Amino acid sequence: MTIGDIETPALLLDLDVLQNNIRIMAEYLKDKTVKLRPHTKCHKTPVIAHMQVKAGARGITVAKLGEAEVMANAGIENIFIANQVVQMSKIEKLVNLNRYSNVSVAVDNPDVIDTLSSIASKKNVKINTIVEIDVGLNRCGVLPGKPSVELAKKIARSKGLIFEGVMGWEGYAAFIEDFTKRREECKKCYHKIVETAEQIRKAGMEVNTVSCGGTTSFNIAAEYPGINELHAGSYVLMSLMHSLKKVPFKPSLTVLTTVISRSTQERVITDGGIKAFSRYGGNPKVHGISGVEVHELHGEHGLLDLNDPSVDLRVGDKIEFIPAYPGSTVNLHNKFYVMLGDLVEAIWNIEGRGRVD
Ligand SMILES: Cc1ncc(COP(=O)(O)O)c(C=O)c1O
Repeated sequence: MTIGDIETPALLLDLDVLQNNIRIMAEYLKDKTVKLRPHTKCHKTPVIAHMQVKAGARGITVAKLGEAEVMANAGIENIFIANQVVQMSKIEKLVNLNRYSNVSVAVDNPDVIDTLSSIASKKNVKINTIVEIDVGLNRCGVLPGKPSVELAKKIARSKGLIFEGVMGWEGYAAFIEDFTKRREECKKCYHKIVETAEQIRKAGMEVNTVSCGGTTSFNIAAEYPGINELHAGSYVLMSLMHSLKKVPFKPSLTVLTTVISRSTQERVITDGGIKAFSRYGGNPKVHGISGVEVHELHGEHGLLDLNDPSVDLRVGDKIEFIPAYPGSTVNLHNKFYVMLGDLVEAIWNIEGRGRVD
């Protein structure tokens, strides 16, 4: 099967680029004490998670319990849910998962700690539990310092729970375009988390994990003393949002579409609209053809402007796009066509697609 045989819209993965991204990260971390626990919410695909573990990752990170179930069922053994799991039925599932896998979880609430502890101890299971610290994103997480120390103490006292460490996500700082400013702002976040880890140690607890860092901040976090785990994820697929300066990774993910109409010399219509692309982070960008831009996306149609009307695009031609953000576009599709040049090397099911539960 070649690229011309693929029914569109479809996700393409360039296997060489994907493997190279995994290799670049592994080589960068080879001689460092900081370890990688890649966030898999962007690809939601066990085979890619296995490739990352094989390349040296100590386990994986997921965003949702549903993703953890998919990855555990596919044989991934060391999984961290970097998010809050608060519904009783979900906490039960999380505890049950720990009978055959090792699934740790972030917490930021004392009542959730009580529920987790009571279910885990009833079922005779131990859950590694991590305090999520709000380092400035204003999303989940307790404040650094005393509130985090108190939560850590509560975990350490709770039956069925093991206090594992702290995590934060410097998302607001990691996407600052200018690298010097990005580094400055990220360091403020790391200072908060590392300081808090020290205070927890002073209170008599071991802090095994101090975790943060994404694709656009991995090399800042990795150099910061006291951080020992990174949860960068999109580096494997990349996207327009992640293609900032000073990031050595290349886009392996594109969305393939077909021209279905050339209504005028200046306008091309493709079969890829917002049901093929998430617009989180903006419109996708045409890959490999210059002078062609997204004008608008409708449900099932992509409306493109041709700056140069002589560009030879006809009905039936294929156009590739780089999405603005990977995870939300991947979640719209069932499979990746894994490409070596124009040849389809494999088809990988996106097992975690739709697992936003
Ligand atoms: C908790 C958490 N950690 C890390 C990341 C970094 O991910 P990426 O490397 O995909 O930018 C994210 C992304 O949103 C996140 O939510």
